[in-house]
Amino acid sequence: MGARPSFRPGALALLILLGVAVSACGRTGPVDPVQAAEPKGTLFVFADLRGTLKPCGCSPDLRRGGLDRVAEVLRRAREATPTGLVLHAGDLLLDDEGIPDVLRAQIDRRLSAFAGALASMRVDAVGLGPNDLQQPEWLAEALPTLSVPVIVTNAPPSAPWGAHVKRSLLLDAGPLKVGIIGLVPGGAAGATDPLEAAQAESQALRAKGAHVVIALSSLGLRAAKRLARGGLGVDVMVAAGQGLDAVVTDEVESIGPEPRPTFVLQSFVQGGQVGRIDIDLAGDGLSLYDPEAPSTTTGQLRYTLTPVNWDLPRDAAVASIMDRFDADLEAVNLKAAGDPIPPVAGQPTYVGVDKCYECHEATRAWYEKDQHFLAWETIENDKKTFDIYCVSCHVTGFMRPGGSSLKALAGLKDVQCESCHGPGSAHAETGDVTLIQRSPTESTCKTCHNPKHSTRFEFEAYRERLLAPGHGLPPDGAKAP
Ligand code: HEC
Ligand code: HEC
Ligand code: HEC
Ligand code: HEC
Repeated sequence: MGARPSFRPGALALLILLGVAVSACGRTGPVDPVQAAEPKGTLFVFADLRGTLKPCGCSPDLRRGGLDRVAEVLRRAREATPTGLVLHAGDLLLDDEGIPDVLRAQIDRRLSAFAGALASMRVDAVGLGPNDLQQPEWLAEALPTLSVPVIVTNAPPSAPWGAHVKRSLLLDAGPLKVGIIGLVPGGAAGATDPLEAAQAESQALRAKGAHVVIALSSLGLRAAKRLARGGLGVDVMVAAGQGLDAVVTDEVESIGPEPRPTFVLQSFVQGGQVGRIDIDLAGDGLSLYDPEAPSTTTGQLRYTLTPVNWDLPRDAAVASIMDRFDADLEAVNLKAAGDPIPPVAGQPTYVGVDKCYECHEATRAWYEKDQHFLAWETIENDKKTFDIYCVSCHVTGFMRPGGSSLKALAGLKDVQCESCHGPGSAHAETGDVTLIQRSPTESTCKTCHNPKHSTRFEFEAYRERLLAPGHGLPPDGAKAP
């Protein structure tokens, strides 16, 4: 065959001619003009946003992604490939903590920011994940506010949230007809068996003319592979629903019985990467593109990943949605914020670092150079001082008895002495050493240094970094024996 035709709009007549010509020289079966013209197309995928407009940036590994920059990556990609489809797999609106009361107002406001951003980004379809299904009543109210099609193939027919999702979608990526299904774990909020649902729906999509079927899965990698082994009838599966510590890779595995194994794409988290799937159906079946030896007999699938780095510019429209969200949090959260929790009678309460300095002036030189002293400034720079989620770990005694709240932060901004040594009022009255904790435990650190925010935390190494002359080391700096 000669050079492949380019697919300009309006070139349908040419396509049909070519289709007839190709089928005349050797192909059997009914003449499908589009198929005979060897369709190709591009899909852009991102995954596991988990309600994150922008990752917190607490650790270097978390300084990637954010809808503003995903939007910028997609804008550039579409400029080059206007017919590409944009799909999101995995948990979309919620993280694994669900909707705790303290976050309720913020999560509701965030939903509208998400809806605006997804619309602005012209996302073509999204799946859901088990975290989204934690509170089905909330989801049933949230889904109608999204303008993007939500696809859950194994949604229970009777559940209220199931009424707001589609079972599948057939979209054109240029000449390539793409059937899209979405899979959530069986049993989650009444979801049915994902294997049966996938098999039936992908068959139906092919009957309607789909050249390829892609599954947006939130089952995690292991369960996704198990499904694929069962023979899904799906060409490509995005295996989202992995933890935040998922290993990000551009590896593609071909899994399941011939003649239609499934290409399983590894996951990527919090919108930190955008994947690009190029499918070129020239030939029989589909094989993975090998730059060393591209196949001449089969169609080819090529997968590449682009990291969404923070040195990229922000897409203006989505950035303004996110900035408005941050600006609104003051009103949203102050209204919803509870009063600080009163101290418990007979128990020590929080007094703040200035009180400690009265007798521990020697710690000042160390503390005022320590990172914990900068914790509030950090979230001030990010305009996140009214984001409850951020404030909780960047201040002292947040929502603890006698501690701070969003309404009462005076004297307790930053991660102060009492975050580690415990509330110190009783000790500060007399200097009685039995009334204060000298050695903070690992579990105290981990209330903030958890794997979601401090990915490289290691107790001994981190603890060592806190010791300095005036704080745990003698004034000359010599290490204790
Ligand atoms: C569960 C506690 C927790 C929450 C919630 C949290 N942080 Fe942090 N943050 C930390 C810890 C712990 C570190 C230090 C991590 C390390 O170095 O290992 C940190 C570090 C940071 C840093 C890096 C500071 C620097 O100069 O290196 C930034 C920026 C930051 N946080 C912003 C945020 C924002 C924005 C939010 C809200 C979206 C947030 N944090 C929510 C605990 C938290
Ligand atoms: C009235 C004076 C006074 C105030 C106020 C005070 N301390 Fe102390 N603190 C002492 C004395 C005295 C000691 C014992 C000598 C030493 O280790 O410096 C001590 C020891 C400690 C120790 C070591 C305990 C041990 O078992 O060795 C810690 C930790 C401590 N203080 C933390 C704090 C914190 C946190 C604050 C503020 C909430 C605070 N102190 C306020 C007088 C005070
Ligand atoms: C109340 C929350 C909280 C607690 C408790 C806490 N930290 Fe932190 N820690 C933070 C935050 C927030 C930062 C980052 C501050 C910033 O730069 O904005 C941080 C930063 C650090 C850093 C500097 C990391 C870097 O990248 O330079 C070290 C080291 C550290 N913490 C050790 C500890 C240890 C050890 C404990 C327990 C003894 C502990 N922290 C307890 C919140 C906490
Ligand atoms: C991020 C956690 C953290 C913060 C914040 C922190 N400390 Fe400590 N502090 C420690 C650790 C860890 C040790 C070492 C404990 C040991 O010896 O086992 C220590 C030791 C001490 C000691 C006993 C050793 C000595 O030098 O006498 C005192 C007193 C003390 N801290 C006071 C303070 C005061 C006052 C502040 C606030 C200005 C403060 N600490 C802030 C973690 C912290």
